[in-house]
Parts: sequence; C-alpha cells; structure tokens
Amino acid sequence: MHPEAAQLLAMAGEAAHQGRFGQALPMLSHALALDLEGTAPAYAELLAGLRLTGWPPQLEADLATCLHAGSVDPQSLARAAARMLLAKYPEPVVAEDPLWAAFLTRCINVDPAMEARLAWLAGQALPAGLREALAAQAFASEYVWGGEGLGVPPVAATEIAEERRLAAAMPSLGDSSDQISRAVRIQYEANPYPRWHAPAGRQPVSVAAHLAALGAPQAEPLAVLVAGCGTGFEPIDLARMDASLAITALDLSAASLAYGQRMAGALGMGAIRFVQGDILDAAKLGGRFGLVSSTGVLHHMERPADGLAALAEALARGGVLRVALYSERARAWVVEAHRAIAGHGWDASPAGIRAFRAQVLALPAGQPLARLRESDDFYTLSGCRDLCFHVREHWYRLPAIGEMLAAAGLELLMLDAPPEAQARFAQAHGAAADRRDLVLWDQVEAAHPQLFAGMFHLWCRKRD
Ligand SMILES: C[S@@+](CC[C@H](N)C(=O)[O-])C[C@H]1O[C@@H](n2cnc3c(N)ncnc32)[C@H](O)[C@@H]1O
Repeated sequence: MHPEAAQLLAMAGEAAHQGRFGQALPMLSHALALDLEGTAPAYAELLAGLRLTGWPPQLEADLATCLHAGSVDPQSLARAAARMLLAKYPEPVVAEDPLWAAFLTRCINVDPAMEARLAWLAGQALPAGLREALAAQAFASEYVWGGEGLGVPPVAATEIAEERRLAAAMPSLGDSSDQISRAVRIQYEANPYPRWHAPAGRQPVSVAAHLAALGAPQAEPLAVLVAGCGTGFEPIDLARMDASLAITALDLSAASLAYGQRMAGALGMGAIRFVQGDILDAAKLGGRFGLVSSTGVLHHMERPADGLAALAEALARGGVLRVALYSERARAWVVEAHRAIAGHGWDASPAGIRAFRAQVLALPAGQPLARLRESDDFYTLSGCRDLCFHVREHWYRLPAIGEMLAAAGLELLMLDAPPEAQARFAQAHGAAADRRDLVLWDQVEAAHPQLFAGMFHLWCRKRD
C-alpha cells in the first residue's frame, strides 16, 4: 500500500474511532486519491456506519468511487448510497445522475424510503439509461416492490439461460429420501439464496495455516467441503483467498448451485466442484475432507444432529468443521413473524410475501415486527422467504450445541464471537476464563440476547 495513504488511513481510523468524522473524512479522501484499492475497504466501512443527514459533495464523489472499487463489495454501501440519494433529492424527481446509476446497478436496495422512491420512479417516463438501471435494480430485488413492466434486462436474460443449462447438467448424488430435505429443496429451487453481485477482491490467505494456528494442522493440499453452499458465495470466496484448496460445494438446490457455478466461471474460479445433493448423503461424495464448512444450513434440517453426524463422518482424521447456527434468543422476533404470517394465512408465494411485506412496511417504528425493515434479507423475495417463510427452522442455546457436537464426536476449538461479544465475555467472567466453555457464553448471551444475531459460528475438530 502507498505509505502516505497508509499513514492517513491510520490517522483517519483513530479520528473516526473518537467520533471526529469531520477530520477523518478529508484524510480518507486524500488517501483514496493516493491509493484507491488499498484505501477503499476502510473508507467503505466508515461510510457504511455513518448516519447521513446531509449531502456533502466530496463524500458523494468518494462514495461513487468506492462503489466501483474492486476491493469493496458494493452491497456494503447500499444503505449509505440510498440515504445520500434521498438527502440529495428529498422530493421525487427524475434525475440522471452517476450516483443513481451506480446505486441501481451495483447494489440491491435495503432502505424502506428508497423502496417507495423506486416504485414511484418505475411509474415515470424515464430516459433510456435510467430506465435500464432501474430495470436491473427491479430484477435484482426480484420485483419485490414492482417494476415488472421495466422488462428483464438483456444481461439477466442471458444469465438465466446459462443457469438453466448449468442446473440441468449439475452432477447429483440422487434424490434425497428425507421429506424435509425435499421441501427445503423446493424452496431454494424456486428462490435461490442469497442473491449476490460483486464480491470484494480477496487478499491471499493460507487456510491450512489458519487451521494450524487453531491447533488443527491438516494434510495439504487441503480438501474442503462447503455443505449447503447456497449460491456459492462461500466456496468462491475461499477459492479466491487460497488457490491451493480443492473445493467441493454441495447443496440441495441445483438452481442455487447453477448461480454459484456461473459466478465462479465469471470470476475465474472454474475449478470448484459443484454437486447437487443432501448433506445426509455426504458419504456418496467419496473421499474425506480436512475442512468442512456449513453456514446457516443444519438448522433447516428435520434432524440437525443427523446432518452434523454426516458431516463429521465426511471429515478426515482430525479434520475441522466450521458450523454456523441460529441463536434462539437472537431470533425470538422471527417467531413473531411466523405467528403473524400464520394468523393472516399468507403463503410463501410472491403474492403472499408481498402482502406480508406491505404490512411490515406500514407498521409504526417501535413495533416488534418493524425491525424486520433493518434486515437486508427483507428487500428481496428470496431473502424475505428465507427470513420469515422458511419451511423448517431450529433455534439453539449454546449448551445444547455443545451436547450435539460431543454426540457427533467433535471437540470445540473456538466460538468465533464478534469483538463486542468477546468484550462482554471478558467483562462477565474475566480475561482468564475458558472461552470454550459454552455455559459461560450462554450466561453472557442471556444478558445480551442480540449478541449473536449473526448466528453462532463454531470451529470444531473430529476427535481421533
Ligand atoms: C440459508 S441458505 C445458506 C446458504 C449459504 N450457506 C450461505 O451462507 O449463504 C441454506 C442453504 O442450505 C441448503 N440446504 C438445506 N438443507 C440441506 C441439506 N440437507 N443438504 C444440502 N443442502 C441443504 C439449502 O438448499 C440452501 O441453499
């Protein structure tokens, strides 16, 4: 990285940490001009956290720059860009503006006021460029707010055709005999999730070295299984991080896998092996894996313990499993959503999801369900279905996860908790307490029920 940019970045980080954003922003602007790709991730992180009320032109220029930087996932800036555009154009107008174009084509909207503006725009006579950009936005959000009349963008039509072809040719372990797996497959064949656009570039990282640092060194080249890979973000991210990995990506949904395979091809990660099938049939993949990762998947199975056992079985001797599961406390409000949906009799069709969303969008702030509007998943059909209309969902307390791991012959290496949770743990139990003690963590979570809103992420190792 450019040395002066690095220095400015450090000073700006310190100023922002102390809440002196007025000082931090010009330093970041300068650093961005010196070293775009090196500075953009830190600047984007700061921008994403800002609560914008005005529209400073320099900030707008920097935001547009960051939206196009290869080292930044533009989606992380969706909220900031929407707020800046609404601050710039408080009244509905048709304006051709590069920031509008960047926002509409590079982000999926996640702001309720912007959603209303998009629906309004779709009803106006628009210049061709803006109309095309709005059509891309409407397609990306799966017409959750309307916009069907704008038509499917030609690029998207080509991508859909390619995904159909890839899905039809997808290698498969065969049909699952599990009823819930079949129902889950139907959900994700109709609504592959998550929809993602443009991942941030990755610095090279040795995954094997990471596992060795966790105390679980593995034979190389490392064979990795991403179990329930959805639309392929995780296997592609891993492949971009570490080209030495031999990655298999497994999912029930051929449509989700096809999305991932298309993206892998576009990003030059064609060596990933995509396979359709049930985790319960993982033994059919052949071979054993030094690392298995399963994020947000097992809690959608009828018997997650059976899924965990199948994954433990797929591990090589001493292999590592990384698993992420929903917290019962953090998801309590989803129970409210399920109750409201059942009460109104809404189904998971596009019409049912839209009716539910309309109700949530109309709620006054402060109502428990109004917080759904803060979730990015609320703003696409597939995301909203995954969030509130799932055919099967289990929620966990940490001690129960500990028991499930032990029963599968797995030993906990680490609970990968966010910094805030780590600080709370130290406050509650002292710096020397055992951070692998899930009962101690459970006490921390009881006092701070939203601490694991981003799921419990656990690293474990197969016992010898
Ligand atoms: C919520 S999505 C998560 C996708 C991805 N892991 C991520 O973090 O973005 C859950 C995925 O798990 C897959 N899945 C659920 N049960 C499965 C099973 N028994 N075997 C294989 N995949 C499964 C679904 O098809 C879906 O794509």
